Parts: sequence; C-alpha cells; structure tokens
Amino acid sequence: MFGIKFGSSKFPYIERDKSVYSALIGGSDRQARLFSCAVIGLLLITNICTILGLLATKYLTHQLDAAEPEYTPKSAARVQTIPTKWSRLNWWTEYTERNFTETDQLWDDINPAHGFIAMDRKWAKSQHWPDSMHLPSDDSKNVYLLEAYHLLHCVTIIRKTFWEAIDRKEKYTFHPPHAGHCIDMMRQYIICKADNTPLYLFGDDTAGDEQYRKCNSWDALRDYATDNSACYRDTPRDVDPTKFPLGAHFGYCDGGYDGVREGKRAGPWRHGVVFDGPE
Ligand SMILES: *[C@@H]1O[C@H](CO)[C@@H](O)[C@H](O)[C@H]1NC(C)=O
Repeated sequence: MFGIKFGSSKFPYIERDKSVYSALIGGSDRQARLFSCAVIGLLLITNICTILGLLATKYLTHQLDAAEPEYTPKSAARVQTIPTKWSRLNWWTEYTERNFTETDQLWDDINPAHGFIAMDRKWAKSQHWPDSMHLPSDDSKNVYLLEAYHLLHCVTIIRKTFWEAIDRKEKYTFHPPHAGHCIDMMRQYIICKADNTPLYLFGDDTAGDEQYRKCNSWDALRDYATDNSACYRDTPRDVDPTKFPLGAHFGYCDGGYDGVREGKRAGPWRHGVVFDGPE
C-alpha cells in the first residue's frame, strides 16, 4: 500500500527528510494491516447502510402504494382547490361594534347572492356536480349556490333575527325557523371542518385573539363567482318575498360586488401577544 520508492532520485527532497516519514515507512506490518482493516470495515459499513436504506425506502414506498387511496363517493362534486392565505382573526371587529347605525350598514352591505353561479350542464355532470335548477334565461345551464355564500347568508339571518328578538320587535324580517336551520347548518359545518388550530388563552374569556388562521382566499372565491355569475339577486328589502316570483331574481348582475370584507380590528382587547408577519 505504501510502496512509493522514497529512495528515488526523482524525489531528492524526500531523501533529505526521510525521518519525517518513519512512522509510515517504518511502521510495523501489524499497524498497516490494522489500517487496511479499518478502511475496508468502514467501506463495508457504509455500503451495508446504503443498501439497507434503499431497501427500507422501497419497502415504505410499497406500503404507501398498497394503502387504500382516499375514497370519494361518485356523487361528490369535484371542485378546484382554492389558494390559501394566512389571516389573523380578531375577537372584536367593526362588524361587532355597538354603534348599530354603522354595524348594521356593514352587515346589510353583504351580498350573499353573489354566490349564485350558472354552469354548463354537461360540464357540471362531468365534474360529478348534482343536477340542479336551470338558469331561466339559458336552459343549457344549471344554477348553484357556493357553500361559503350560503353560510354567509345564514350568519346575516341569524344576526338579524337575534337583534330583532333582543329588541322585542313586533315582526321578524325572517321566520325564526329559518335562523334555526342556519344555526344547525353552522353546527354541522363546524363539525365537518374539525379545525384543529390551537387557540391561546388569556383567562379573560377570549381565545385566539389576533392569532393566525390558515384561510382559503376569499378573493379567489369571489372572482370564481364573478366569472360564473348567475346574475341572481335576493328579494329586495321592501318586497314581500311570498309575492316575488323566482324568475324575478335573475337577470340582475352585481358587477362582481359581494360586500365582503375581513373587517377592521376594534374593541378594547390588548393581549400584547406578538405574532410575526404583516399587521
Ligand atoms: C354612530 O355612527 C353614526 C354614523 O357614523 C354617527 O352619526 C353617530 O353619531 C354614532 N353614534 C354614536 C352613539 O356614537
């Protein structure tokens, strides 16, 4: 292994310094053999590790492939994935404020009817979307209501009925059973989403104030609804809904407006918790 001819006249400087190499040149055979064994051993171990690693990877990949793919019912509507964004939710916002002149206006500005979309019937069928009512002006299209807008509509109805009840109004804008349905829809939806975000506590009956949540992009949803709008409007406020025919809802485009905002932070809570990222 160390068979370099140190005596060679090609390396006169080595000749001079021969003593420096004595450990290598003059080392006993036993030492050399030990060294070779160590190197060979090391190579063996490395190779064995690599082979075992490859086998393990292959085995685990096989296990994954063998696992049942997630079952999707045939009749479940296939939808696009919505881009996500991180948002900080506030315990109290302008939508919660007690000046009802202002908050009622914000809530009234919400236009859940923006969530009505019209899609080509054949395309909808190809995406496993259930059959649905036809667009009155175009028989080749089905009308759908996007879930988020449906739930938003529900929240506005619950709020309205709630305050009308607190204020002991003679007449409710919406039949209270409608709000009852909405509350139960929220219950089922929350159970369905099973959100596992851990909310921090402060011992003051608040939870998760200002904390980040992983959200779907509302802008993306709004744009999707705008691009496929069914041009539907809710029953105008001053009209008796029982005397407002279905056809009268259609043909009113909102120009992409849904009145939805995240809502400026408000209220007295200051927990002093610092989260990184933009305000
Ligand atoms: C509530 O808001 C309205 C509109 O901004 C304002 O005119 C009114 O003075 C406010 N009321 C109270 C009690 O702050």
